[in-house]
Amino acid sequence: MENNGWDDSAEAWIADMGAEGDFSRRHVLDAPMLARIRGRDFRNALDVGCGEGRFCRMLAAEGIATIGIDPTARLLAAARTRDPQGRYLQGRAEALPFDDASFDLVISYLTLIDIEDYAGGIAEMARVLRPGGSLLIANLNSFSTAGDWTAEGKAASGFLIDNYLDERAEWESWNGMLVRNWHRPFHLYMQALLSNGLRLVHFDEPAPTDGNPQTIARYRRAPWLHVMEWVRDERAP
Ligand SMILES: C[S@@+](CC[C@H](N)C(=O)[O-])C[C@H]1O[C@@H](n2cnc3c(N)ncnc32)[C@H](O)[C@@H]1O
Repeated sequence: MENNGWDDSAEAWIADMGAEGDFSRRHVLDAPMLARIRGRDFRNALDVGCGEGRFCRMLAAEGIATIGIDPTARLLAAARTRDPQGRYLQGRAEALPFDDASFDLVISYLTLIDIEDYAGGIAEMARVLRPGGSLLIANLNSFSTAGDWTAEGKAASGFLIDNYLDERAEWESWNGMLVRNWHRPFHLYMQALLSNGLRLVHFDEPAPTDGNPQTIARYRRAPWLHVMEWVRDERAP
């Protein structure tokens, strides 16, 4: 299996997530993700790239029978410790060990940038969804994965996007982690989703709702995160 840095970064990731998740999750993404789920009739869910299981635990708290799947053994061990009743499997998005049409809801929570064969992963997520079921995605915007702050912290800093159309893997380092992320122009994700019998029913670029004012201000400056819900065509076989 290719080295994507996650085995060596798992301990730092678990510490960084803590009990409540990092800023992007806690203050930006959790609320709009849960808003797409609450009040709907999702009985079971698959969380692809579940990490240490935080969103699986949130889905279970909503009464949804949830399975988490992830290739990184150390993260799965943490997920099992934190949620002994939960179901966590080792596996990859590109080869999901489930029958067609097995789930009402499939989640990809900040994982598409980690998946090497994103097109294979998206095809698998669509395959295991039942017709009419939802694929709920949170991802880093392609505009942000192509860019960086020019001089972070300085008043005159800006966000520079470059080589936007070139797909590439880049090693990102923060808070003791070193993992490989993929930059892909947005059309690659959209075309893969469109070509798998999925229909876009929701798109948002959520702003932070609360938290440190300086961090909120920084998140509002650059094109950072988005949430999409895609529904599998009812006519799919
Ligand atoms: C940024 S973390 C997100 C974890 C979790 N979804 C969350 O939001 O806390 C990315 C995750 O993708 C997983 N991952 C990497 N390659 C993968 C693949 N091919 N299929 C599924 N998951 C993968 C990593 O092990 C890691 O847990």
